[in-house]
Amino acid sequence: MNQIHTALIALQADYTVLYQKVRHYHWNVRGPQFFQLHAQFEQMYLATALKVDELAERLLAVGAAPLRTYGDVLKHARLKEDSSLPSAHEMVKNLHDDLLALNVNLRALVVEAEKADDPATLNLAEGYGDAQEKEVWMLGAFLES
Ligand SMILES: [Fe+2]
Repeated sequence: MNQIHTALIALQADYTVLYQKVRHYHWNVRGPQFFQLHAQFEQMYLATALKVDELAERLLAVGAAPLRTYGDVLKHARLKEDSSLPSAHEMVKNLHDDLLALNVNLRALVVEAEKADDPATLNLAEGYGDAQEKEVWMLGAFLES
C-alpha cells in the first residue's frame, strides 16, 4: 500500500458516506424548496455513485483492493454520517462543508499523484476537484438566500 492507494481508499470511503447522506437528504428534505432540493440531491447522489465506482476501479487498476463492506467504509471515511433530520438550509451547508473538505484531500492527492508520476490518478483527482469547486460556489450561493 502506497500513499496513492491510501488516498484513493479514503476517497472511496468518503464518497460512499456522502452518497448515503445525499440520499437521506433527498428523501427527507422538507419545506418551500422541497422540489428544487429533492431534484438537486438526486443529481448529486447519482454523480457521487459514479465517483465511488471510478475510485474503486482506479484502485484495481493500480493493483490495490477497493473497500468491500460498509464497516470498512466507516473505518476509512473522514466525512461523518448524518443520522439527524437537518433543515433544508443545514443540509445544503453540510454538503457544502463536505465538498470543501473533500477538495482539500483531492488537491493533496493531485500533488501526490504528480510526484508518483501517476497521470490517471492526477487527472481523476483534478477533475473531481475542479467540478466540486463550482459546486461549492453554487451551494454557497444558495446559502446566502
Ligand atoms: Fe427518489
